Amino acid sequence: MHGKRILLIVGGGIAAFKALELVRALRREGATVTPVLTAGGAHFVTPLSLSALAASPVHSDLWSLDEGGGMGHIELSRSADLIVVCPATADLMAKMTAGIADDLATTLLLATDTPVIAVPAMNVRMWTHAATVANVAMLRERGVMVIEPDDGPMACGEFGPGRLPEVPAIVAAIALHFAPKPLTGRHVVVTAGPTHEPIDPVRYLANRSSGKQGFAIAGALAALGARVTLVAGPIALVTPPGCTRIDVETARQMAVAVEAALPADAAVLVAAVADWGVIASPDKLKKAEGMPRFDMVENPDILATLGHSPDRPRLVVGFAAETSETVANAVAKRVAKGADWIVANDVSGDVMGGDANTVHLVTADGVEDWPTLAKAEVARRLADRIAQEFA
Ligand code: CTP
Repeated sequence: MHGKRILLIVGGGIAAFKALELVRALRREGATVTPVLTAGGAHFVTPLSLSALAASPVHSDLWSLDEGGGMGHIELSRSADLIVVCPATADLMAKMTAGIADDLATTLLLATDTPVIAVPAMNVRMWTHAATVANVAMLRERGVMVIEPDDGPMACGEFGPGRLPEVPAIVAAIALHFAPKPLTGRHVVVTAGPTHEPIDPVRYLANRSSGKQGFAIAGALAALGARVTLVAGPIALVTPPGCTRIDVETARQMAVAVEAALPADAAVLVAAVADWGVIASPDKLKKAEGMPRFDMVENPDILATLGHSPDRPRLVVGFAAETSETVANAVAKRVAKGADWIVANDVSGDVMGGDANTVHLVTADGVEDWPTLAKAEVARRLADRIAQEFA
């Protein structure tokens, strides 16, 4: 972030006090920070504290910048490499969506052609309100990077999503924005999540995959500039920025979606695909009819099909979910499925729902044991390794 110029718009919410910590953290990373304080923000932090921490004057009045032909606000927005809105209140995001420019912050946001990162923080009901949901979707569509808020207890006493993410997570998202984009021009297909195999119109076979690791990998690849097609099983996670998502339910639908997404430079198949489906009953099975007997059918092996296909991407990466002999099984799977790499993990603990993962990277050259890492960190490392492969 060294030498990067960040315009920080501080909105009016209790989380505004964390903007002070953010200013310090960004300056520690080598960025210069020019603060813009809204009238609401000034109820929570003072211009003096912001100015002292940023070592910069604080801008807050649209009309006091009228030097140089009345274009001060345009210059201010254009002189930055990045605009960060933190906290981004429901009101600020609504104004951004509608193109309202009734104070300095909103005028800057309307006048700018600089990338914008919004870090929302608000009450859970405001965050989940249909108006905010629609505004966030629209802003993302227009290229604003809206960071997901954290989940948990709120200053107002309620509980749920809407908390400002921790400052290191905000700094990491900003750092990612400035990171080089070595996968620009590359197309990567990622599968993630479980599949559901219907038994009858109301029941299905499933597995415990949360989709977190696959979604994190898709996001990390997109952050490195790749065009990512994310083929997702039934999972309610937010689509990472920069990914085109295709939702599927069954293994067969996933196989069709992956094939349709080709050609690709790389494929990372993380999904926990059901190995077997059931010949589903068209009608709901009734208890009175006695214990059901299922006729199972083998599902296509998407990884093996892709690994041996003439349309094979240059790099095919599979996962191996094991509960014993993790590395030995992964080594065998790599060869059997025609994959270049296998990321092996022991799923006997709470890996499938949890946030951490201990993996081994199996390649033709051998086995690398990675330490236990957050799934987001496993994703970043794997994306970096993939980028090296295409360097
Ligand atoms: N996979 C796939 N299609 C399937 C089954 C698995 O594409 N029908 C992929 C997974 O996405 C993963 C890899 O194959 O990348 C290994 O999955 P895993 O469940 O560990 O292995 P299986 O082949 O299902 O073997 P087993 O369950 O017997 O260990």
